[in-house]
Amino acid sequence: MKKAAAIEALKFVKPGMNIGLGTGSTANHFIEALGARVKEGLDVRGVPTSKATEELAREHGIPLVRLHDYPHLDLTVDGADEFDPEFRLIKGGGGALLREKIVASSSRFMVVIADESKRVKKLGKFPLPVEVVVFGIKATIWKIERAFKFLKLDVKMVLRVKDGNPFVTENGNFILDCSIGEIPDPARLEGLLKSIPGVVETGLFIGICGIVLMGTPKGVTEFKRG
Ligand code: 5RP
Repeated sequence: MKKAAAIEALKFVKPGMNIGLGTGSTANHFIEALGARVKEGLDVRGVPTSKATEELAREHGIPLVRLHDYPHLDLTVDGADEFDPEFRLIKGGGGALLREKIVASSSRFMVVIADESKRVKKLGKFPLPVEVVVFGIKATIWKIERAFKFLKLDVKMVLRVKDGNPFVTENGNFILDCSIGEIPDPARLEGLLKSIPGVVETGLFIGICGIVLMGTPKGVTEFKRG
């Protein structure tokens, strides 16, 4: 289902485009499919959102450029951990949320590719990743807890760990995975969290995604923001 959605996303790709390349297993299917088109002669450039994506894109022959040199992208194609009926997302399961958000928000439009397990009525079943600076992390955690309390949300916060050590993002930060349950007002939560010094980014993507291609056993369903 992920692969079917990824292949469908090729219909948005036009010659000459500069394309943000997401991170994760679904995005990988898109990179492979795009690489096959490039081998057939399609002229596009990609901006990777992680080292893993960069490596895979290189392997598949996709010419890569830096966002620094191409700050206005035509399109970003990426996966998501959750999407709701208002095209709001939770991302960052793979830890690339900061670069993914910078790249997606620099694109004329973002297409999310996902299987149907990612569709939710309300965001929050998936723990919300919050990327934080390592310096003073205890003080930052205290402020985040206070923000959740202010919103009357019960939260269980866990420092993301990999191979027994804190997971370090490609930006040198840590990630706190926040199990919240249904988030009543994602925009308010986003605003509050982003106002805390030490919080670099959250996995909430609001007003960024315009199209979702959802793979189902019966085919790919397209949702388009009005
Ligand atoms: C990485 C992400 C991914 O898009 C998200 O975790 C979905 O991953 P997958 O496509 O493997 O299900 O946000 O930071």
